[in-house]
Amino acid sequence: MQSKKFDPKVFQLGYVALGTPDIERAKQHYLQNLGMTEVALGDDGSVYLSVGYNHHDLVLRPAAQKALLHVGFQLKPHITTADFARDVRETGLAATVKTDSQPGVAELVEVEGPGGLVIQFYDAIEASVPGFKQTGASPVRLGHVAIINPEGDKVIAFFKDFLGFVLTDDIAGIANFLTCNREHHVVNLVKAPESRVHHIAFELRDSSCHGIAADALRAAGVNILWGPSRHTAGHNVASYHHDPDRVMVEFYTEMDAFIPELGMSEPRPWHEHLPMKPRSWGHTELNAWSTDFAFNLATG
Ligand SMILES: [Fe+2]
Repeated sequence: MQSKKFDPKVFQLGYVALGTPDIERAKQHYLQNLGMTEVALGDDGSVYLSVGYNHHDLVLRPAAQKALLHVGFQLKPHITTADFARDVRETGLAATVKTDSQPGVAELVEVEGPGGLVIQFYDAIEASVPGFKQTGASPVRLGHVAIINPEGDKVIAFFKDFLGFVLTDDIAGIANFLTCNREHHVVNLVKAPESRVHHIAFELRDSSCHGIAADALRAAGVNILWGPSRHTAGHNVASYHHDPDRVMVEFYTEMDAFIPELGMSEPRPWHEHLPMKPRSWGHTELNAWSTDFAFNLATG
């Protein structure tokens, strides 16, 4: 399957929407500790937060309990929402075209995926450019999302067979890394009997910023759960913390660059395998540096 033409229907993750029981507390974390900017308030009380360029990268909506509401991906320019919706319906999944359902996105297709996963696809998002902050971790972009889903195999099949993602690695067959662009992973689909977000991941400007981000978090009383340390799958230098709702947030740099034409990642001095082709890592092989950690990536 890896040899078929790499031509995904989408090219990047756009945003993640989370339900939160304390929207003010959650919002302040992303504003103060990450340096995001509030750009809009929705009719339903949702707040729209931007890293610095796109209208939004994160949506927080009031909810009785924390929840993964939906994730958004941007369609390739030549794919219309009408054609995309038709193609989705032919797979047997429900797809609804929505106009003006959220600020910044005029039209989107909402798909009810397997296991309760709601995915939105859009061809354009407003570039409202609130600017990048110089406070907190100040990431440069939202890079990937890790999702736990009880129908993981069906979700993986949707991403691979329908959307055209390629599988770049897995960890013990549980965490499955897939990409639609040159980054090693844009989604990490975790097969487990739950339906929730595992973590959302923001890219920092470079690896020297991990210390700055960790200092900013600790100054705000936020513990670092793991890292900064280098992963095996993806080889990103990553650190994790919980937001106020205990949603895990990753900061990362130095993610492997995947070359679909060669079916391998760009060679790096720290790769354990050359060529670094997609492989299945053991569940004890999370850390390329073999530093101690007490963190279960499958259930954290
Ligand atoms: Fe991650």
